[in-house]
Amino acid sequence: SVFPVILSGGSGTRLWPLSRRHYPKQLLNLTGGEYTMLQETMLRVSHLDNPIVVCNEDHRFMVAEQCQYIGMKPEAIILEPLARNTAPAIALAAFKACSKCEDAIIAVFPADHVISNQESFEQSLNTAIEAASSGELITFGIVPNSPETGYGYIKANKLQSSELEVLSVESFVEKPDLETAQAYLASGDYFWNSGMFVFKASAYLAALQELSPDIYQACEKSMSLASEDLDFTRVDKDCFAASPENSIDYAIMEKASNVNVVPLDANWNDVGSWSSLWDIAEKDEDQNAHIGDVISIGSKSTLVHNSDKLVATIGLEDIVIVDTKDALLVAHKDLVQNVKDIVGKLKARK
Ligand code: GDD
Ligand code: MG
Repeated sequence: SVFPVILSGGSGTRLWPLSRRHYPKQLLNLTGGEYTMLQETMLRVSHLDNPIVVCNEDHRFMVAEQCQYIGMKPEAIILEPLARNTAPAIALAAFKACSKCEDAIIAVFPADHVISNQESFEQSLNTAIEAASSGELITFGIVPNSPETGYGYIKANKLQSSELEVLSVESFVEKPDLETAQAYLASGDYFWNSGMFVFKASAYLAALQELSPDIYQACEKSMSLASEDLDFTRVDKDCFAASPENSIDYAIMEKASNVNVVPLDANWNDVGSWSSLWDIAEKDEDQNAHIGDVISIGSKSTLVHNSDKLVATIGLEDIVIVDTKDALLVAHKDLVQNVKDIVGKLKARK
């Protein structure tokens, strides 16, 4: 069996005011299409076995409802009582998959990515699934186009990005500083890590047991004490809380020796901020992206996202406007990474 594992635990603070703690970005329809990001992610891999979704317990009804709406019956919806980052979240799913089928392969997908070329995506995914059956940990490599510091960087043994193949990984560096990222980009030898992974559930657990035994033990215990209720698997809170907090990238991918990379060229986009949403959105001839009812005169390169009232702009350039019922964001497009600081200020107010 190949179980997709859908990670739906992030809070998406850089997409405030649309993305909120109780209603994070992956549960929203950001692009103006028919489905939410979670639904798009599940539909993208609906040709595999039923997915295992891992999310915060607060979101359980929204997640279950969104699955039902698209006619998906998850293998399990694993509920985290609190966030411990991706290494533990994937461990929970791996234990679940192993309990269904000893030899299960899991294919891990963040619920907040956009991939518009389904055919290339499926090709790379098939290659990855085949490669994973021998026990390797597979990641997907994207050819980078900017010195992004929020991504992992992968140096493969040799670059032949036009051909689909499996390359062994020489080094994996998670979130380098700007200087390092610039050097990596200039060298032409590095991929971005896409944040999607394919491996045997047992191979991931073996790597975790070796490299991060505390996470392994906490997750094993919290799953063995989990209770099943309806479609939900509730892990034991105290045991899970005892797990260290770490991402799969730092805990496993930087350290493991059996990591391979499959190149992916499928218009992948991690919709992390309003400027990346502008990147992928449909634009008019003046490069304005309008989601909702918008009139603009003489504006250029703007992003306007509004939920229920008409927004009109005149002569703006590189401006982001996001209007919701109770909050309005107006920001320069080059500075939208700072939106998370607004969320920080809001939290401090409470
Ligand atoms: N269930 C669950 N629980 N999901 C989580 C948790 C958690 O505690 N923490 C994060 N996630 C989900 C997020 O919602 C997101 O979909 C995914 O896991 C990845 O987490 P991010 O926090 O968005 O990671 P990142 O973007 O900083 O970095 C990762 O992705 C980059 C590409 O987008 C890394 O894998 C990088 O190496 C990679 O380049
Ligand atoms: Mg991300």
